[in-house]
Amino acid sequence: MKRIAVVTSGADAPGMNAVIRAVVRSADAVDVAVCGIMHGFAGLVAEKFIDLDARAVSGILHLGGTMLGSRTSAEFETEEGRAQAAANLRAAGCEGLIVIGGDGSLRGAGDLSLESGIGVVAIPVTIHNDLVGTDFSIGFDTAVNTATDAMDRIRDTAESHRRLFFIEVLGRWSGWQALYSGVAGGATEVVVPQQDPDPDGLRERIQASFALGKRYCLVVVAEGGEQRSVYELAEQTTRGTDFDSRVTSLGHIQRGGKPLMRDRVLAAVLGDEATKALLEGADQVMVGVRNGDLVRVSFEEALSGRRVPEALMTVMGRLAR
Ligand code: F6P
Repeated sequence: MKRIAVVTSGADAPGMNAVIRAVVRSADAVDVAVCGIMHGFAGLVAEKFIDLDARAVSGILHLGGTMLGSRTSAEFETEEGRAQAAANLRAAGCEGLIVIGGDGSLRGAGDLSLESGIGVVAIPVTIHNDLVGTDFSIGFDTAVNTATDAMDRIRDTAESHRRLFFIEVLGRWSGWQALYSGVAGGATEVVVPQQDPDPDGLRERIQASFALGKRYCLVVVAEGGEQRSVYELAEQTTRGTDFDSRVTSLGHIQRGGKPLMRDRVLAAVLGDEATKALLEGADQVMVGVRNGDLVRVSFEEALSGRRVPEALMTVMGRLAR
């Protein structure tokens, strides 16, 4: 291959720019040119392509967001739109595509590959950490650290006023953000989407915690479960009690910001590996690091559904006293 393309797709996450840089520089090292696709899959259909060389990706390693932009695309969801995207790639001389993103990005890229025969390799970048085949996705660590830092700040107020706080974190249906920030931030309870949130049980356990002498309680709630919103959950849990409670929803604060060391290093390693994989002819595979080893897994495996680790849930419950 003499020329490949790279696209960032779906939600931005800390480390996306570091991945773009790694892909471009790895390709450059073996004299392969890189075409950057602007605005995600939308730019593939609309042919918004730019040339990226080693200098074009200088000074972006530490920046949040994505220099290429990312946008949803109704056209790309159709077969005609994907056929147009493939034709645009071929016309630009791109022989393969590296897609940087989460589950939706893998699905879109998989369809493109199946229908057009263009090889695609994915790099897992999502704060959800919900892809099978890599211990951690790029962006997860930084976003958890942001939530943990927020919890440390909220704890100051909670402790000063003897309050109960419900803290909603991002991560949609995955629950990983909630569990990891709950453990790292010393939460009393973590509510993940896979569980029935059970406000009555929650109320009893919080009452027991205060009765044991706790001066405050932090309950971390994952967004997007079957459950009600964090506001409803807070209302139902505190009904009939004299808890002094508050709700904080962290929202997009967790998506932005400069990537921390773990995400930067993972970005370097996986960006390099994805480029190698694509040049070696891999198709519809996602690269990852599992138990310290580089791996390539099929899109099918990557998308097979990932639950939060039960063992860590158990540890969380044991320590929250
Ligand atoms: O997928 C990442 C995520 O931040 C989710 O946690 C959240 O539900 C969603 O994106 C928000 O989407 P948007 O940025 O389009 O509002």
